Formats: sequence, structure tokens, C-alpha cells
Amino acid sequence: MAPESATPSLKREIQGEMYRRATRTLPGGTDSNFRAWGEDTVYIDRGKGGRIWDLDGNEYVDLRMGYGPVILGHADDRVDDYVNERMRRGVSFSLTSEDEVRAMETLCELTGWVEMARMATSGTDATMHAMRVARAYTGRDKIVKFEGQYHGMHDYALISVLPNDVSDLGNADNPVGLAWGRGIPAPVADTIIPARYNNLDQLRRLFERRGEEIAAIIVEPVLGNAQGIMPKPGFHQAMRALTEEFGILLIFDEVKTGFRLGRGGAAEFFGIRPDIGTYAKAMGNGYPAAAFGGRREIMEMLPKKVSHGGTYAGNRIAAAAATKTLEIIRDTPVLETIKATGEMIQAGLRQVIDAKGLAYQITGHPSMFGIMFTEHVPSEYRDWANTDHELYDAIAVGMHARGAMPEPDSREPWFVCEAHAGGDTVDRVVSIFADSFHAALEARARTGTVAGGGEPALGAAASPAGG
Ligand SMILES: Cc1ncc(COP(=O)(O)O)c(C=O)c1O
Repeated sequence: MAPESATPSLKREIQGEMYRRATRTLPGGTDSNFRAWGEDTVYIDRGKGGRIWDLDGNEYVDLRMGYGPVILGHADDRVDDYVNERMRRGVSFSLTSEDEVRAMETLCELTGWVEMARMATSGTDATMHAMRVARAYTGRDKIVKFEGQYHGMHDYALISVLPNDVSDLGNADNPVGLAWGRGIPAPVADTIIPARYNNLDQLRRLFERRGEEIAAIIVEPVLGNAQGIMPKPGFHQAMRALTEEFGILLIFDEVKTGFRLGRGGAAEFFGIRPDIGTYAKAMGNGYPAAAFGGRREIMEMLPKKVSHGGTYAGNRIAAAAATKTLEIIRDTPVLETIKATGEMIQAGLRQVIDAKGLAYQITGHPSMFGIMFTEHVPSEYRDWANTDHELYDAIAVGMHARGAMPEPDSREPWFVCEAHAGGDTVDRVVSIFADSFHAALEARARTGTVAGGGEPALGAAASPAGG
């Protein structure tokens, strides 16, 4: 009889064939570096609610939810029916529809502090325009960003994002700007000043030295790119005060946290009024909706003084999806359901890990959380390096094989959607986690390593988060 922890194997015939076909045309066989998992690249057939099925028919509880956007569940009939009805009137006019106005009105209503907003085509597009508006408004060029935070794929965002070797980030007292990949011009990279999340002393010293050059600081209010590391109590309040003291704008990048941590996003959750906010993901339940907005005085730099546009900005499909999704988030207890479901999953995981006596931290918010094997509460990206992420990675690989799909990289949080509340999903996730955790520990006890310990290896899960 096979041992209890033996790993079931996934069917891969059709996907293996698709991988070979796709790699002939698409670099890495995918449309995003983050999805290129080598021989283990997943090719998807369909999703419904909190479940997905790959081309070979393997079923998984989805814990990636497209890196966060699918907040209600896959193929949600309420959103899809509305989008369907609207799209039959034509999708792309480069003219403005009522859906766009309605979506941005609802965004302003839900956030409470955003006075004017515009739709963008992606989170990347939103943060890029937010930075430009900040530079235009202040007449300054530099932007401060925190190490390990991800703000999308434009050149100004790809600095000090997520090296595996954190020593590449330079001395902790004097971090260096590390461009992620080639092709980012040095003069562009030089406009971004890296800082360490949760480190107010360093921020104050930086502002005192270079405050007059700095237009804005952009922050993922919760470090979504490292398991959702939370701000220390009072961090956001102190940073808000510091930015006001130096005339520096505060950009909350709410692409992951927006309409998830609360109806008003992380700004509401932490009680902060930023100057600019960027949104995407949850606002469209997976349709490519995005926006940036902020104080009226700042946003009124548009249209005369700052460039913003895009053939697809505010296209019918995105605008309709945002209208419907935001209304559901406003009018139903979806966020309460998600929080309660996340808490139930967390409680189950705690029981499983506690029984083995290992040190760990559950990071983030119940709607997007991580598990870090460490004694210390992490406070910044550099702390991830000191966690037992090999163990986490082995568990994630084991979970895939058993029918639940968290991101196979220890930096990406699990995302909970409304549909996870139904049926046996919570129990299933916990029992799949338990089996994978026990198998990884057994493998370590047997071989001294968890790498490949009886689990099918996943390919180079190249630093996820982006989509
Ligand atoms: C905080 C944050 N900002 C920006 C982005 C970029 O968004 P998009 O992938 O829609 O370009 C992401 C994507 O993961 C994100 O998490």
C-alpha cells in the first residue's frame, strides 16, 4: 500500500503537447514571464467559482485567482450577464460610455476620498500615469518606492522588485536601485529611489536629504509581493504625516488591496487619505478594468497639463465589468464572506502546523494572506530571505499535485474569493495543505532536503505577482 503521503500524479499529456507547441511561438510558452513554469506550465481550460480545470481535466481549488482579480469567483453570472448585454452594443469607440461614468462614480463613492478618477487599461498603466501626474503636480522627478513592492511592468516600476538574493539590494542602510531585467535605461532607473518598507527612520533621513527632489512615494499598503507583509502599527499614519511635512505626494497602489481589504480598500482599512490611488484587479472580477484617481486638485492636471489616454482606456467590457463588480461589492456582503472564509482556512492551517510545533507566521489580511516559516514577524521584503521558503515551495508543489493551486512561489499570497465560501472548499484546502505539509516534512526527514522530495518538480516559477 502506498504511504499516506504519496503524491498523486497529475495528468499532463495534453498540456505537455501544448507546451511543446506553444514554446515554438510564445517565448516560454506563455504570455507572461510569471506563468512560464517550464515543463509544468499550466494550460487552462475553464474555471467556475473557486475551481479551475486544466486542459488535461485536472481540477484544482484555485488560490491564485488570477493573482487576485477574481474576487467573486470565476465566470460569475452576475458580472458576465451584464458584460454580455453591454458588449453587444459594441466594445470600442474611443468615445465615452455611461458605464465609465458610473464605474468611476462608484469608485469615488466606495473609496470616499477619491474625488476624480479615470479608467486605465491595467494596473501597470494606472501606476505609470499616477507617477506622471505626481511628477507634473509637484514639478519634481524622483519617486520613492519600497523594496520588494511590485507596481507593474513599466520601466519606473521595475526597480528593486524581488531578487532571490536580497544582498543584491545593497546595504540595508543604503539600498541600491536594482533594475529587474535588462532594457531599463539607467537614467530612468535613477529617478526611482528605493527605501525599506516599515522603516520610518530611514524614510525621514531620505526626505531630509533629498525631499526637494521627490515628487511622490508609491506604496503597496500591504506588501502583496511578499506574502502580504503588514505595516507596523502606525506606519501608514506616520508616513502620511512625513509626506505632508515634505510636500511629497502619497500614492497608494491599491491594485491588490483595493475593494478587497475593505470597500474603500487599504486606505479605509488603515484610515489613511492618500493623494493618489491606483486600482485594478478586484474592481473588474478578472476583466481588465483599472483606474487611477485622487484629490480633485491633482487630477485636474488632466486633461490640459498631463498626458493620459489609451485606445482601450474605459472600453465597454472593462467599464461594464467594473460597474457591476463594484456594485456587487457595495451592495452585498461579499467582503465579509471572503474575510470569514479566509479566517476559516487560516484556522485550519494553524491547527495543522501547530500540531508539528514548527515556527510560522500567517501574514496579510484573511482575503490575501501568506504562510512564512519563521519565528520572527516579517516587516519587509528582506525578511522573506530568512524564512524557510524551501519548505513553503515544496508544500505548494504538493498542493498542486493534490488539487489546490496556490502560487508555486513563497512570495505570492493566497487569494480568497466569494465562491470559496461554498461547499467543501475550506475543508478541502486545509486537508490538501495538511497532506502536502506532512509529505514535505517526511521528505526532509528522509533526505535532508524538501527539494524534489517525492513531489513532481515545478519549473522555474519565476517570481510571480504580476500576472
Ligand atoms: C500592487 C500592484 N500594482 C500593479 C500591478 C500591475 O498590474 P497589472 O498586472 O494589471 O499591470 C500589480 C500586479 O500584480 C500589483 O500587484
